[in-house]
Amino acid sequence: MSRKITKAVFPVAGLGTRSLPATKAVAKEMLPIVDKPLIQYAVEEAIAAGVETMIFVTGRNKNSIPDHFDKSYELEKELEKSGKTELLKMLRGLLPPHVSCAFIRQTEALGLGHAVHCAKPLVGDEPFAVILPDDMIEDGGRGCLQQMVEVFDDQQCSILGVERVDPKETHKYGIVEHNEISSRVGRLQSIVEKPRPEVAPSNIAVVGRYILTPAIFKKIETTGRGAGGEIQLTDAIAALMQDEQVLSYEFEGRRYDCGSKFGFLLANVEYGLLHPEIGSEFSAYLKQRCENL
Ligand code: UTP
Repeated sequence: MSRKITKAVFPVAGLGTRSLPATKAVAKEMLPIVDKPLIQYAVEEAIAAGVETMIFVTGRNKNSIPDHFDKSYELEKELEKSGKTELLKMLRGLLPPHVSCAFIRQTEALGLGHAVHCAKPLVGDEPFAVILPDDMIEDGGRGCLQQMVEVFDDQQCSILGVERVDPKETHKYGIVEHNEISSRVGRLQSIVEKPRPEVAPSNIAVVGRYILTPAIFKKIETTGRGAGGEIQLTDAIAALMQDEQVLSYEFEGRRYDCGSKFGFLLANVEYGLLHPEIGSEFSAYLKQRCENL
């Protein structure tokens, strides 16, 4: 019987040191791109891909994430009283009624692999998606996870979202080597975390989108600390590859690394230009500003 992806894990327990001081007291995932927090974009991408259960792996300073998805009675009452029906509708639409949220804690930030393993009791024995909200992917309507779910529906195996990066930047990513099956899909041959450019097997980098089979949990359990002293998801995937087919998928769309200050700024500019309310005013401002640089 073919399996469906109905659960997504959002590992959001990282410390966000690259975005300090903004992230000293505020969760990185709550930083806004124009007027919506990063985590909201990530959840919308999952909903568009057919996910119904959102599992957040949280840590210290992340209480604003459950708050964001909670019903806000006082605020809704105030908006109702003042007749702000459009705002009220928008607020109520943040999470459709068929979608539920679950939260579990990673008590120590021991790495992405460890964070994903924390979700095991909630995921159970099912294939699931993983979305890293700080990797924002803008697409022409078919979200990155939706594209990957379509491949999963056909192939029923683990799939990693990948993109080609500047060869000088391989030390920032998990890097794969694959055999091309079609223009966007490859069969993984090897994967290594953050290799220096001189030893990287390619410039094909894993981004923050994964579909994983539940066999990954056992692999994480036997994965020791890797790059940076953390329990790396990449190392567990390298072990999984020995037992099962793992695919790479070059998504359609543009990624913004919002965990870096530069990527965060780019995303705000691009989404600002696309924004229905402020896009044209912002575009006029930018044109004028660029003339005076
Ligand atoms: P990052 O590598 O971006 O780390 O984690 P970080 O701590 O969030 O940010 P920097 O590098 O210090 O600025 C990638 C993803 O894995 C999650 C993060 O929340 C982010 O979504 N993560 C990482 C965890 O949930 N737990 C961890 O122990 C490590």
